[in-house]
Amino acid sequence: MEITFRLNGEVVTVTETPTRTLLDHLRETRGLTGTKEGCNEGDCGACTVMVEDAQGKKPLNACILFLPQLHGKSVVTVEGLSDGEVLHPVQRAMIEEHGSQCGFCTPGIVMSLATAHAQGRTDHEDVLAGNLCRCTGYAPILRAAAKAAKDPVPEGFDHVAFSAPAIVERPESADEFAAIYALRPDAVLIAGATDVGLWVTKQLRDLDEVIFLGGIEDLRGVTETPDTLEIGAMTPVGDLVGLFRPLCPSLAEMYRRFASVQIRAAATLGGNIANGSPIGDSPPPLIAAGATLTLRKGEDRRSLPLEAFFIEYGRQDRQPSEFVERITVPKAGLRDLRVYKLSKRFDQDISAVCGAFNLTVEDGRITAARIAFGGMAGTPLRARTVEAALTGKPWSEAAIEAALPAFAEDYTPLSDMRASSAYRLTAARNMLRRYFAEREGQGVSVLSVREGA
Ligand SMILES: Cc1cc2nc3c(=O)[nH]c(=O)nc-3n(C[C@H](O)[C@H](O)[C@H](O)COP(=O)(O)OP(=O)(O)OC[C@H]3O[C@@H](n4cnc5c(N)ncnc54)[C@H](O)[C@@H]3O)c2cc1C
Ligand code: FES
Ligand code: FES
Repeated sequence: MEITFRLNGEVVTVTETPTRTLLDHLRETRGLTGTKEGCNEGDCGACTVMVEDAQGKKPLNACILFLPQLHGKSVVTVEGLSDGEVLHPVQRAMIEEHGSQCGFCTPGIVMSLATAHAQGRTDHEDVLAGNLCRCTGYAPILRAAAKAAKDPVPEGFDHVAFSAPAIVERPESADEFAAIYALRPDAVLIAGATDVGLWVTKQLRDLDEVIFLGGIEDLRGVTETPDTLEIGAMTPVGDLVGLFRPLCPSLAEMYRRFASVQIRAAATLGGNIANGSPIGDSPPPLIAAGATLTLRKGEDRRSLPLEAFFIEYGRQDRQPSEFVERITVPKAGLRDLRVYKLSKRFDQDISAVCGAFNLTVEDGRITAARIAFGGMAGTPLRARTVEAALTGKPWSEAAIEAALPAFAEDYTPLSDMRASSAYRLTAARNMLRRYFAEREGQGVSVLSVREGA
């Protein structure tokens, strides 16, 4: 497969194996060793590069970015940032503010900050949530970011469209994809590769047949109807923060805490559901909101409630050649929805428990209840006994307390490195208490603590 992309301004064509990562290509094939390898799994940000396409600039982790994902795009590495001897404002400020000690994290930090600088983003703490620095500490780096933000964006690294011929493992429409997948049902689908990338870099798996979904424009984006949001499977998780902010701030905040800026720019909603993970963050709130999934196989489509997709650990209701096309979220399901993500680190961490609550209260009574959890079973799962214990009861602290024992009937959570079984059950119960307290105006939301900090 011939992959064409722009690298530091120059159009290059490469013909390496489709699961070759950009990081290995840069360091081993091109000798561009400014981009560092730290974790090789999307966590540390040492490998961050700037990628630009029709959607704009984004920082991405080169370690879990396969070369075909770059087809037709522009890549800027740390070697391409300065204009000859003239440093980029972020590089200059990092020197002046002493933002680098051992320097290992520095190229990645500079690329994250340079991308934010070009985008006009000044929420630097969020921008750097996916960049680990062990020795300098973040205060000088944040000072450098703030200083550089006052300087104009240098000219010269804007994406200029160029001709990149279609390639067969990279369909450009849902129809084309459905046809190819029907012929090759064993192919591994690669959307953002934030899961699949690790199969290659950490499990050292050889993927024989792959289909890259990144070129399919008609699976990306959101169509809004009066009652629903229809979200294409290839919509990046990062886009969901702004989408949900006006409709359900709690859900928007959950997506803001999903991994890091780099991962959110690559990861898709379809991938977050299709992977069937019991600790994926999207399923609990979307199940509680009453979302449905549209699956497509060839020309045939079927819809099912999102919760019905997850059969058991590692098994989803998906036939050979069938793929996730879109997720439909009823807007009414977002009104009373709140979601609580509990993880060991506040940012850039997978949930130990993720609970979502959507109770309808009419005339002082709970008339409907949808509660779903991740991290409490082998799949994302509704708390049907708790829901039944609440439905029809008065909206009162006594009714909430009376429903708490039912959690033990719905869930027998595992103990693992993230949390013990007892901790998970206790946390789930406390989340329901928190939901009540917040809706009564008694709660202190984590969001407001951060904003006030
Ligand atoms: C550092 C790091 C942090 C992370 N943090 C979080 C987090 O906070 N919360 C969280 O939930 N997850 C997290 N993840 C996991 C991952 O980012 C998400 O699950 C992500 O949404 C996967 O989407 P993707 O597009 O990258 O999927 P891919 O890796 O491309 O694919 C994942 C799986 O889904 C299949 N697939 C993809 N698209 C489709 C489709 N349309 N139809 C059918 N099958 C499809 C693929 O074949 C594969 O089996 C993290 C991962 C990393 C590396
Ligand atoms: S090497 Fe750590 S994120 Fe890529
Ligand atoms: S300067 Fe050493 S890890 Fe950041």
